[in-house]
Amino acid sequence: MDLKLKLRPSFFLFSLVLILLLKVPDFVSAAKPKCISTERQALLTFRASLNDTSGRLKSWSGPDCCNWSGVLCDVRTSHVVKIDLRNPVQDVRSDEYERSSLRGKLHQSLTILKFLSYLDLSSNDFGGLEIPEFLGQIVSLRYLNLSSSSFSGEIPANLGNLSKLESLDLYASSLRVSNLRWLSGLSTSLKYLNMANVNLSGAGETWLEDFSKVTTLKELRLSDSEIKNLPLSLSSSANLKHLEVLDLSGNSLNTPIPNWLFSLTNLRELSLRWCFLEGSIPTEFKNLKLLETLDLSNNLALQGEIPSVLGDLPRLKFLDLSANELNGQLNGFLDALSRNKGNSLVFLDLSSNKLAGALPESLGALRNLQTLDLSSNTFTGSVPSSIGNMASLKKLDLSYNTMNGSIAESFGKLAELVDLNLMANTWEGVLQKSHFVNLRSLKTIRLTTEPYRSLIFKVPSTWIPPFRLELIQIENCQIGPSFPMWLQVQTKLNYVVLRNTGIEDTIPDSWFSGISSEVTYLILANNRIKGRLPQKLAFPKLNNIDLSSNSFEGPFPLWSTNATELRLYENNFSGYIPQNIDVLMPRIQNIYLFHNSFTGNIPSSLCDISGLQILSLRKNHFSGSLPNCWHRQFMLYGIDASENNLSGQIPESLDLLPSLSVLLLNQNALEGKIPESLQNCSGLTNIDLGGNKLTGKLPSWLGKLSSLFMLRLQSNSFTGQIPDDLCSAPNLRILDLSGNKISGPIPKCISNLTAIARGTNNEVFQNLVFIVTRAREYQDIVNSINLSGNNISGEIPREILGLSYLRILNLSNNSMAGNIPEKISELSRLETLDLSRNKLSGAIPQSLAAISSLQSLNLSFNKLEGSIPKLVKFQDPSIYIGNELLCGKPLPKKCPKDIK
Ligand SMILES: *[C@@H]1O[C@H](CO)[C@@H](O)[C@H](O)[C@H]1NC(C)=O
Ligand SMILES: *[C@@H]1O[C@H](CO)[C@@H](O)[C@H](O)[C@H]1NC(C)=O
Ligand SMILES: *[C@@H]1O[C@H](CO)[C@@H](O)[C@H](O)[C@H]1NC(C)=O
Ligand SMILES: *[C@@H]1O[C@H](CO)[C@@H](O)[C@H](O)[C@H]1NC(C)=O
Ligand SMILES: *[C@@H]1O[C@H](CO)[C@@H](O)[C@H](O)[C@H]1NC(C)=O
Ligand SMILES: *[C@@H]1O[C@H](CO)[C@@H](O)[C@H](O)[C@H]1NC(C)=O
Ligand SMILES: *[C@@H]1O[C@H](CO)[C@@H](O)[C@H](O)[C@H]1NC(C)=O
Ligand SMILES: *[C@@H]1O[C@H](CO)[C@@H](O)[C@H](O)[C@H]1NC(C)=O
Repeated sequence: MDLKLKLRPSFFLFSLVLILLLKVPDFVSAAKPKCISTERQALLTFRASLNDTSGRLKSWSGPDCCNWSGVLCDVRTSHVVKIDLRNPVQDVRSDEYERSSLRGKLHQSLTILKFLSYLDLSSNDFGGLEIPEFLGQIVSLRYLNLSSSSFSGEIPANLGNLSKLESLDLYASSLRVSNLRWLSGLSTSLKYLNMANVNLSGAGETWLEDFSKVTTLKELRLSDSEIKNLPLSLSSSANLKHLEVLDLSGNSLNTPIPNWLFSLTNLRELSLRWCFLEGSIPTEFKNLKLLETLDLSNNLALQGEIPSVLGDLPRLKFLDLSANELNGQLNGFLDALSRNKGNSLVFLDLSSNKLAGALPESLGALRNLQTLDLSSNTFTGSVPSSIGNMASLKKLDLSYNTMNGSIAESFGKLAELVDLNLMANTWEGVLQKSHFVNLRSLKTIRLTTEPYRSLIFKVPSTWIPPFRLELIQIENCQIGPSFPMWLQVQTKLNYVVLRNTGIEDTIPDSWFSGISSEVTYLILANNRIKGRLPQKLAFPKLNNIDLSSNSFEGPFPLWSTNATELRLYENNFSGYIPQNIDVLMPRIQNIYLFHNSFTGNIPSSLCDISGLQILSLRKNHFSGSLPNCWHRQFMLYGIDASENNLSGQIPESLDLLPSLSVLLLNQNALEGKIPESLQNCSGLTNIDLGGNKLTGKLPSWLGKLSSLFMLRLQSNSFTGQIPDDLCSAPNLRILDLSGNKISGPIPKCISNLTAIARGTNNEVFQNLVFIVTRAREYQDIVNSINLSGNNISGEIPREILGLSYLRILNLSNNSMAGNIPEKISELSRLETLDLSRNKLSGAIPQSLAAISSLQSLNLSFNKLEGSIPKLVKFQDPSIYIGNELLCGKPLPKKCPKDIK
């Protein structure tokens, strides 16, 4: 806004005139205005009601009020004409802003200043005070700025008395208006009006008519103003013919783009982002010849192609159409732009649409373009080589498309390029020195392709690139096997992702210690990097550490007290987890240490990390007992300590973890009973306690865990019967009780396992995915029941045939008697059936042949009799041996009827 400058130039002009005409040597003192005492008194009164914590009104005490800070007097008349008390600190988030905000009340004494034309109280904190009505009495005002000053309540209608007002800024968050009729009082003066964030929902249907009465308006800003209706036609739009800037962003308009906009032919800037506009972009935009800025982004629903007329607009500098449903190709629009010789487009964002096709060569004609964002569309093909002609390009984003092929060498010409994002496409080919030769300004590079593609960096081993990167993200590209010089010299990095880049080298300590202390991400996963890591490094901001799947050695790295994510899995790290891990990593959420050589105990201080979510310690050499100190850690939902040397009991205090969902403690030496308290963890979905020395009866409360998906208690010493209650676990899909000392029958209620009976959803299984790689491991046993190696007696209950999604049934090595159910083929998805080593008698049912999915069968060592049905797939005699009375193929013993 230029108005605030107006007074100053006139002051200088006047001084100049004085010098030239009067040639008074010490004109400065001569021209210095004197303060009018009634005005001085008014200012003092005004100041007295303010609270000026930072003392920026210190100068408001001397005799000459014209030289108080923020006060300006007319040079000739000495009247106060301007008060500028805008907060000098403009960064709202800084503490300084708070400190230098004025507070308190606004005193009416200002009305004494009859010549005040400029009042700026913006960016202060009047703590919810209403805008005082007396401001409407200072009719000399031409500029009033009350923005961001925590005023609230209704905007007083008597501001409409300020008939000279040219600029009114009421940008704020808790003001509202219930009618806008008062605007008519400003109808011949007001040029600038900002009521963004003012709640206009009470202003009624006529809000736009009311604004259009102000025929002098050049700039109207009404973003986030709770406007719900935008008229599609507007007879009075002619009144707004001077309008140059219109901002209606952030209002839920839910209409097509209205036609009356195109009669506002003086528009320079039109902003309609986040308005939920529908329909297509009208070609009538061609009428807006002066348009420089057009923002239609984030409407989510604008459709159709980008009209080529937008490319013809001679002055367009800024075009944002991102986050819509635009489709079609870019050719028409870009060709128009490239024909438009004077095109001055600087910013183009078309990201997050449904645009398609290859990028046309005409892109290269956009010589002034600084930002080009085409990410998250479905563009195909390779990058046109004309890209190298975009001499002003600073930011290029082609990420998340379906582009392929090699990366044009002409990239190397983009000397201004700062930010390059080529992520998530399927690039291949070779990147050479020439691709980077002039990229002096490059600060960030993101380049990822599909893992199976071959994209290779082939640069000389001594190459020193012209850039110093701050961010690097390269995935699935071959950079290694050595850790190249061009990476070694990057010492300003604050975000590092080098995932699956084929580096097999050691990384010099100097590189780690050279990384910026601002670093937040350090991801070196899926390489074959060797060696020990430097121990004494301080990265105070480092958040996310992923060194997984390499060959790192040495102790637990302690680099950051700010880490939330630590992935060290699949390496050769050794030594202890520090006992005071809670102090060293107080903000840690996910700890993945699996598949290393860590030793020692699991420190009890883990119980004191309140944000812990996942603790994955599998396949190490941890010993001692699990800490029994768990208390209200609301987020902890996964513990995987399997395949260690843990002894002692399962901690009772686990029941204090309200979110616990996954508990994997298999393959340890745990003993004792499953603690009763565990039934309080009602969200448990996956339990694996197999391969321990646990004893006692199977707890009946397990069936009350309504989310339970997997229960594995195999290879322990559990006794007693299978409790009926277990049948009531509606989501159970994996049940493994094998290798225990369980006796008694299989309960008939087994058909109540509804997840296996009806194949209901798989969602709980997803929890395992968070425990990285475990999901894959358990995937193979979904819908399985394994009761083998116990002492289970009785018959195979016919009810089991109701479990029609059952894939694996293993009842071997028990004492089951009776027949194999005749209708066994009702288990039509069965893949594995093992009934060996029981006392089953009778004939093998013919219907077995009907189970086409059956891959593996074992009926050996029972008391089955009669002839073996024709099961083409199962010609291995060992399936049937140990049944004295069985006969026929594939057994050597012929059946009586065949002998004849
Ligand atoms: C000014 O602000 C300070 C600190 O917030 C407060 O202690 C003091 O009472 C205020 N004075 C007036 C006059 O409001
Ligand atoms: C007021 O005038 C005095 C003397 O002319 C000068 O030293 C001082 O800096 C001025 N104060 C302000 C706030 O301009
Ligand atoms: C009002 O003041 C704010 C800063 O507090 C400034 O950003 C804004 O441009 C001013 N409004 C006008 C119209 O000058
Ligand atoms: C100022 O405006 C108010 C409300 O619009 C009105 O009631 C009042 O008469 C006006 N005062 C003057 C002096 O015009
Ligand atoms: C805006 O004002 C209306 C009443 O005029 C009120 O119902 C609504 O809640 C307000 N919106 C906000 C965000 O405060
Ligand atoms: C890119 O993808 C298209 C369509 O899938 C295919 O026809 C073309 O051969 C691919 N080009 C390269 C270089 O891989
Ligand atoms: C720690 O990380 C958070 C992000 O999780 C960041 O906001 C914060 O600034 C960091 N703390 C320090 C001391 O850098
Ligand atoms: C099994 O389901 C049936 C019918 O839904 C119900 O009556 C019975 O109580 C259930 N049995 C058990 C042990 O949950």
